[in-house]
Amino acid sequence: MNQPRQILVTSALPYANGPIHLGHLVEYIQTDIWVRFQKMRYPASEGHQISYICADDTHGTPIMLRAEKEGISPEALIDRVHGQHQRDFDGFLVEFDNYYSTHSEETRRFAETIYATLKRNGLIESRAIEQYYDPVKAMFLPDRFIKGECPRCHAKDQYGDSCEACGATYAPTDLLNPYSAVSGAAPVRKESVHYFFKLGKCGEFLQNWTRSGTLQDEAANKMAEWFEAGLNDWDISRDAPYFGFEIPDAPGKFFYVWLDAPIGYMGSFQNLCDRLGLNFGDYWNKDSSAELYHFIGKDILYFHALFWPAMLKYSDFRTPTQIFAHGFLTVNGEKMSKSRGTFITAESYLQQGLNPEWLRYYYACKLNGSMEDIDLNLEDFAARVNSDLVGKYVNIASRCAGFISKRFDGQLMPAAGPESIEEWSLEQAFIEKLDLIERFYEDREYGRAIREIMTLADSVNRYVDENKPWEIAKNSDLSDKLHIVCSAALRAFARLTILLKPVLPGVAERVEALFNWKLEFNRGFSWQELSNLPISKIQPYQHLMTRIDPKQIEALVAANKPNLQATEPAPQSEQRHAQHQQHTIQPIADTISIEDFAKIDLRIARIAKAEHVEKAEKLLKLTLDIGEEQPRTVFAGIKAAYDPAQLEGKLTVMVANLAPRKMKFGLSEGMVLAASDERGGPFVLFPDEGAQPGMRIK
Ligand code: 2FM
Ligand code: ZN
Repeated sequence: MNQPRQILVTSALPYANGPIHLGHLVEYIQTDIWVRFQKMRYPASEGHQISYICADDTHGTPIMLRAEKEGISPEALIDRVHGQHQRDFDGFLVEFDNYYSTHSEETRRFAETIYATLKRNGLIESRAIEQYYDPVKAMFLPDRFIKGECPRCHAKDQYGDSCEACGATYAPTDLLNPYSAVSGAAPVRKESVHYFFKLGKCGEFLQNWTRSGTLQDEAANKMAEWFEAGLNDWDISRDAPYFGFEIPDAPGKFFYVWLDAPIGYMGSFQNLCDRLGLNFGDYWNKDSSAELYHFIGKDILYFHALFWPAMLKYSDFRTPTQIFAHGFLTVNGEKMSKSRGTFITAESYLQQGLNPEWLRYYYACKLNGSMEDIDLNLEDFAARVNSDLVGKYVNIASRCAGFISKRFDGQLMPAAGPESIEEWSLEQAFIEKLDLIERFYEDREYGRAIREIMTLADSVNRYVDENKPWEIAKNSDLSDKLHIVCSAALRAFARLTILLKPVLPGVAERVEALFNWKLEFNRGFSWQELSNLPISKIQPYQHLMTRIDPKQIEALVAANKPNLQATEPAPQSEQRHAQHQQHTIQPIADTISIEDFAKIDLRIARIAKAEHVEKAEKLLKLTLDIGEEQPRTVFAGIKAAYDPAQLEGKLTVMVANLAPRKMKFGLSEGMVLAASDERGGPFVLFPDEGAQPGMRIK
């Protein structure tokens, strides 16, 4: 029996102003697989305590402004988003022991305690700094909320920290003709007192800590660069108005969102302790022997490997055991992009009817312990899932289970002994690979674990192919042989299921039902069954997984393309850290070739009919005449700006060759063109006089 382990695992806290997308899911699926593996390997029944916690990251200017824009309180916004995030995580079988919020009393209390201790230890300093201030909104502007002309290439409408046209980085004060992205007003320079965490004083501790096995090698090397550049004091306060926690001894000053975000790990865990009766101090006290692991993206390493351990150390808490950073997700080899339809939300993936375990499996195939980016190639995704999961894994059960049910009343033959050479060696192959696969899971080398597991699946399929149960079933003299072959294959199938269970928990649950496991043992499969597997009968086989139809992928991409018809849900945050861009003018995403453009069939359409759609908040139903026999029906998100009567008879422009989309209210057969951004809209495009329905735009 192993020494009982206490393990606390976290994933980074998603911002509470945008939906979960496939980029986020890399991390949550990576962590969930690891935690599920640990829970199977170190079960609670043997005294181990493994907790996986997370929360919404709820504070900061973008969330405050987003709520204001929606005309609701920040609390109402974060409540709503919390529900959506929880729904998406459930949908992808990401099983937190606690999913909380940083806007909680627990987090506030820890933030205040940590701040007070840091202050007592001489690590907080205040001084006045000058920043841009929006005189119309009466608020200081974060860098990303200031726009203007690039001082280097003179591109217009660039952000306050970097130019998207030439890549220059600069201070917001370097921008030419700056304006506030919130109100459009010209910002003024204004002084205000800020509070700083003196990170520079923690240099020696951090140099040691980052080299003590807490980080991957690549991350430790990155740290070395940062140390060389010198550690700057960290500005941890923001002025009102700000949605966050007010600093106790500083009225009108708030903790910067990144101060309380990691403290949210503690808040969420405290909340779990209160629910389950665990002891918080066992995990977080300075002398704790519990293990603490943070899974994060490589972009937030600075916060987790410098600020966070320094804050913990100098406020008398323990520091993390290890930080596991992963790379970014690309889709088809490129950055996720709205215009290409590859900025795919978790919600749309599930709504389009795709199986979450397909994605869990594919990510597992791609993941390793490094900070390299991983690519979701949509063609490869379908091919891989179909060939591995359906073609290799499920195929074993679907070829053998029927014979056991029909011919042997569901009873399996007992496990073979060494005298049955073939069956025995099949079992031994699993035993031999066990340590290796276990180590791969432990090291987050899931791709390598999956390769080993699929090699085992190949050997089981070879065994079935060689013994041909469908042939021997025709000969009643070979009934025993049929029983042996199908039993051995199903035993191996159960073992494959256990090995895959961290990745495919839903399938594993159905396989547990197939083997009557839960009824007999009142728990799910755990790691120990890999050495000793007491299964003796099966229930009738139920289908376990379908193949991916490439059409489903096409529909998913189409559903994620920018499309006014799809504007019923709230707007998405562009990328993990681009919450700042929510209220600013979005840059045009990518260039396309003239050939790409020529693919779009733009036509003049006459709005024959415009109607309200019952229960739709934003949509109007348009019947469009484009000179074809049948008029087109299009649902357009323009209700806020147009009265149906005002539109009837008018000409507009439509995309006529957009794949039809099934919407809640009916089939939408194209899209009308309209412009909008935070300055207003939608403004439908009306052609100049003389245009006729059906004319093509070239
Ligand atoms: O980068 C992000 O999405 C942040 N919301 C992560 C915070 S992680 C932790 F520090 F809270
Ligand atoms: Zn520039």
